[in-house]
Amino acid sequence: MAYSSSASPGLSLKFLSCLLVLGSLAIVASASNFYQDFDVSWGDGRAKILNNGELLTLSLDKASGSGFQSKHEYLFGKIDIQLKLVPGNSAGTVTAYYLSSQGPTHDEIDFEFLGNLSGDPYILHTNVFSQGKGNREQQFYLWFDPTADFHTYSILWNPQRIIFSVDGTPIREFKNSESIGVPFPKNQPMRIYSSLWNADDWATRGGLVKTDWTKAPFTASYRNFNANNACIWSSGSSSCDSKSPTSTTNNPHQWLSQELDSAGQEKMKWVQKNYMIYNYCTDTKRFPQGLPPECSNTNMS
Ligand SMILES: *[C@@H]1O[C@H](CO)[C@@H](O)[C@H](O)[C@H]1NC(C)=O
Repeated sequence: MAYSSSASPGLSLKFLSCLLVLGSLAIVASASNFYQDFDVSWGDGRAKILNNGELLTLSLDKASGSGFQSKHEYLFGKIDIQLKLVPGNSAGTVTAYYLSSQGPTHDEIDFEFLGNLSGDPYILHTNVFSQGKGNREQQFYLWFDPTADFHTYSILWNPQRIIFSVDGTPIREFKNSESIGVPFPKNQPMRIYSSLWNADDWATRGGLVKTDWTKAPFTASYRNFNANNACIWSSGSSSCDSKSPTSTTNNPHQWLSQELDSAGQEKMKWVQKNYMIYNYCTDTKRFPQGLPPECSNTNMS
């Protein structure tokens, strides 16, 4: 009270604008920067970082595609990115965004976007590899046109589960089923990779529709990468171990034990009922000896 009566209005205005400046500095500091987090890994100039690091574009032409990879390796995280896919006739193109470790028994968590003719739907293809074994595909149509705007694609990876989400809507959960003998990705740190390439031998209608090279170059755009609270793995230790907070109210690593609440489960059911077009867990023709064991651990729902 003493403070407000003695402070002139001019002073408090200055104080306010100072706060505003500090606030916007904080926003700038936490904004995603592709220079800081990624390296362009291939494509001979076809991958470009633009707008001071705020935007990244990949392109594909007849000679080559392009790709980038994260500077850091991660062992668990909640990782978001916004992506705007190749517009128009994108048939034959594949835009991949995934986490992967190295070596013959590698782990991998995949989003792959299979292009299509103008106006025909993309397929969002997902897969999970653990210790070198994949064959766990689930495919979806999207409930929007992924080429018209940026949308957020997220991977939540903690020791109990992997949840794939689109604009905050969970589309797939892969649970840890180690108790029934299924390896789960949890010991191998992974890098984030993305690439745009030609796969017209299989991508669109199983390879029936080929890439129309007269429409090249094909371009996909990325922004707002966020792995701020993910666990960075470096020289055998995790960034999450050093800053384990004592208070649970402001724990930045809450995602480490996060699971789907009932609203999330309802949303996922809605997506799987209306937009899922392939599920390995129901493909009895493909697995005549019996469906993979993790499929009975509610990965079918
Ligand atoms: C492309 O469109 C066709 C026709 O609607 C559809 O059958 C197919 O699943 C779509 N997506 C891909 C990637 O082939």
